[in-house]
Amino acid sequence: MAQLIGGLATSHIPAIGGAIHKGKQNEPYWKPFFDGFPPIHRWLDQARPDIVVVFYNDHGLNFFLDKMPTFAIGAAAEYRNADEGWGIPTLPPMPGCPELSWHLINELIAREFDIVTCQEMLVDHACTLPFKLFWPDHEVAPVQIVPININTVQFPLPTARRVYKLGKAVGEAIQRWDGDKRVAVMATGGLSHQLDGERAGFINKSFDLQFLDSMETNPEWATQFSDLELVEKAGTQGVALLMWLAMRAALTVAGSGVRKVHSNYHIPISNTATGVLALETV
Ligand code: DHB
Repeated sequence: MAQLIGGLATSHIPAIGGAIHKGKQNEPYWKPFFDGFPPIHRWLDQARPDIVVVFYNDHGLNFFLDKMPTFAIGAAAEYRNADEGWGIPTLPPMPGCPELSWHLINELIAREFDIVTCQEMLVDHACTLPFKLFWPDHEVAPVQIVPININTVQFPLPTARRVYKLGKAVGEAIQRWDGDKRVAVMATGGLSHQLDGERAGFINKSFDLQFLDSMETNPEWATQFSDLELVEKAGTQGVALLMWLAMRAALTVAGSGVRKVHSNYHIPISNTATGVLALETV
């Protein structure tokens, strides 16, 4: 059976791609962010996931404002990078795992999640950059991926409670898969930030730190908030923390709990508070 080995989460700001491309990791502005990764690289060297199920949000590449699925899952053999710009290099395609995708699709629909199935799916920085951060020495990370898109772009968004249930169902389905593989779950986006409007630049450090702590000690904590409350607390783009909730919920089904491998929190990169986290199932 498949083994759910742990979870990863990171911010996905496009400027990170430019910094990697230009080798700026050790510059004073970037170093506190990139310093969050080496302990996680060491863990990944040992943990060696074969497949990563990645919760992320599309930025108008597959789904524009006229057609916005709440949840969508990729079932492709490969995912081509076609980012919307930001001056970051186009990365090579990432290999998919259609077998696990179809297993998840069947299980989720049987569990009454009306998820959109995408046999072709382009990916943007929210999916590609985290793999450059977690596997910096590889042109293409040595894993297959299954992307799951959660709408955090246009209201109405799924509630935190619904996202938590989705994550849990994904975790259960991974554990029921008879592919003999090591599977990790990943979340991308966040933490608090607001890019536009009157509150542009808004960051909420105390909420972020409470949220990070809840990932370890009380995974359902954020489900008490409505989406509007999450916007109020974390900013309009900060609601991408819903992805972290899905990742963490998936891990609740494995073994007896999680061990924190490493976390990092740094303000600011661009207009955001950045967060990085790795959890191992125990
Ligand atoms: C930025 C952050 C994001 O999360 C995103 O998706 C796009 C841009 C930014 O800070 O520039």
